[in-house]
Amino acid sequence: MDPVKIKEEIYWVGGIDWHIRNFHGYTTIRGTTYNAYLIIDEKITLFDTVKHGFEEEMLERVSKIVSPERIDYLVVNHIEPDHAGGFSYIAQKIKPEKIFITKNGKAGLSAYLHNLDFPFEEVKTGHEVKIGKRTVKFIETPMIHWPDSMISYIPEEKLLISQDAFGQHYATSKRFDDEVDPCVLIQEAAKYYANIVLPFSPQVQKLLKTVKDLGLKIETICPDHGVVWRSKVKDILDLYEKWSSYQADERVVIVYDTMWKSTEKMANAIAEGVFKEGVDARMFKLSTSDITDVMTEVMLAKGIALGSSTLNNNLLPTMASFLTYMKGLRPRKKVGLAFGSYGWSGEAVGQLNEYLKEIQAEVIHEGLKVKYAPTEEVLKTCEELGRLLAQKVKEG
Ligand code: FEO
Repeated sequence: MDPVKIKEEIYWVGGIDWHIRNFHGYTTIRGTTYNAYLIIDEKITLFDTVKHGFEEEMLERVSKIVSPERIDYLVVNHIEPDHAGGFSYIAQKIKPEKIFITKNGKAGLSAYLHNLDFPFEEVKTGHEVKIGKRTVKFIETPMIHWPDSMISYIPEEKLLISQDAFGQHYATSKRFDDEVDPCVLIQEAAKYYANIVLPFSPQVQKLLKTVKDLGLKIETICPDHGVVWRSKVKDILDLYEKWSSYQADERVVIVYDTMWKSTEKMANAIAEGVFKEGVDARMFKLSTSDITDVMTEVMLAKGIALGSSTLNNNLLPTMASFLTYMKGLRPRKKVGLAFGSYGWSGEAVGQLNEYLKEIQAEVIHEGLKVKYAPTEEVLKTCEELGRLLAQKVKEG
């Protein structure tokens, strides 16, 4: 595939990873891209590199525009190996005059590569570099989502090169938001936010405020994964505002696992109660669900019901694994309920409640636990609790 013109003299020259299905635990059913962008100006400038293994693919694209050795400046917006894995090889190949990077970026690359002998120039927020008729303004974005992260803004083009922010793990031959299925695009952007960016929502809020305060005009957002935003810029900015302030949809997600179907019966009865209140509920049994998909649904829903049988005084391992993952991603402002069946000790429900407390959820009940199998009366209570959960969700 050829390089793709983003705007006059601005090109996408990254790599497409059609086959990756596990990105450090994140299930990437649609693969991903490692985006890099080239601006042809008096100083030819390359923004970001690619994952190791995609260097030649990228350089071949660059060569269709300009000989790689003619690149003057390299900008390293982020050092995670999916972008900087190819840095060393590419930097040695193009021998840039300057490499712009944050202080944390340089320290991080040094920890990865150990021997750094490159022409780095450290930049901070507010630092500007004239590359000809265009200017590159750097804005540090620490912990969105690594300490080194920054974004590059080109005011003359109203264009933001946003590294991981606004990305999607979405391999496609199309490069723009208006060339792909909008439902898939938004779903992948949400999944990306839920599984990568969510813990850093306070920093995202700060960045959105900085964008407003500086009055940055943005017509194009070029992220490091997925397609470029040019037609839905406002939509994705609004969604980042929504997700980073933990606003969620009027919906309940029921996440559970079950040994002998007693906890499952409780889950079904809770769902019935939610439905009877006219609220949508989505159910995920963890033995048959992918945790990255479940996490996306958790982020998007206001209500969350967690269910587990007790096994050896503990949660079922699938629940323990998911809850460890969920806790790290720090969802907030949820309304929660815990439930489950047990044989003789019944610790699981208490442990589920601890996780609900960890994510600072409003817990609507002390937790419903049932010995062996739920009676009709208990299932009625489950339904009532489902109704109560749905009512709380409707209250907002
Ligand atoms: Fe796409 Fe944080 O690397």
